[in-house]
Amino acid sequence: MTDKVSDITYDLDLLEASRTAWERSDGLRFIYGDLYGDVQRNCLEGSVLEIGSGIAVSREFIKNVYTTDVAKTDYVDQAMSAYAIERVVQTCWKNIFAIDVLHHLKQPLQFFQSAAGALAPGGRIILVEPAATLWGRFFYSLCHHEPIVPQLIVPPFEFDANGVDGEFANMGMAVGLFRDHRSIVAARLAEFSLTVKSVRYRDVLAYPLTGGYSKPQVLPTSVLRVLARLEALIPQCLYRFIGLRMVIVLEKISD
Ligand SMILES: C[S@@+](CC[C@H](N)C(=O)[O-])C[C@H]1O[C@@H](n2cnc3c(N)ncnc32)[C@H](O)[C@@H]1O
Repeated sequence: MTDKVSDITYDLDLLEASRTAWERSDGLRFIYGDLYGDVQRNCLEGSVLEIGSGIAVSREFIKNVYTTDVAKTDYVDQAMSAYAIERVVQTCWKNIFAIDVLHHLKQPLQFFQSAAGALAPGGRIILVEPAATLWGRFFYSLCHHEPIVPQLIVPPFEFDANGVDGEFANMGMAVGLFRDHRSIVAARLAEFSLTVKSVRYRDVLAYPLTGGYSKPQVLPTSVLRVLARLEALIPQCLYRFIGLRMVIVLEKISD
């Protein structure tokens, strides 16, 4: 690994294991395909930048995505920090998206300011994050090693490292910012010319039954497809309690 930028908050050695899991699991590829479809539907026509791309599986689903991460690896186009988002060839981005990155950021508002500065007027930020709903808190506390404590997501929204080597994670981040403190956060985002366009929940059972990146797939992909179709029928008023993920869309106010 070379060209690291500052503030690394994630163990880069996990990349190879993730790639192996990705290639092994049909179910994982199906569910992430559905997730990237959601991201794509929220994107506007034009350039797409991804922050924290990891092994950059986004390339399989989103045409012309420009991939980045805290280090330049074989997987991504460029090293770029969430706190110093760059325009490439002087062009503002029409879309900036990040999956499972926000909850690793010690200064999420600094990320929003940086993204707003690199975004074209009317452009969008699309975030996919774990949701600390009732089911989310139960499931992630049981099956995932990172903390999920939305009560700690409080103003001024600046956090100290809580892992090894200065790493930080709190899977309660999205619920803390966009449900529990939404009006405070909206006011801060307005300072960067950003508005909250939508906050939606998704994923209940099909996603955990893929086994994710670290466990074996529990059900055949054909069954997961049926489950995912059924999940698409669940209303958002129920998802607020049982959704495992949130999709947050912000928009930069046009001049
Ligand atoms: C949980 S992984 C998600 C990877 C990928 N988005 C995915 O969905 O498979 C979190 C990613 O965020 C990146 N990341 C963490 N802190 C970051 C920062 N300050 N700037 C840019 N990326 C960051 C990590 O390097 C890692 O690739």
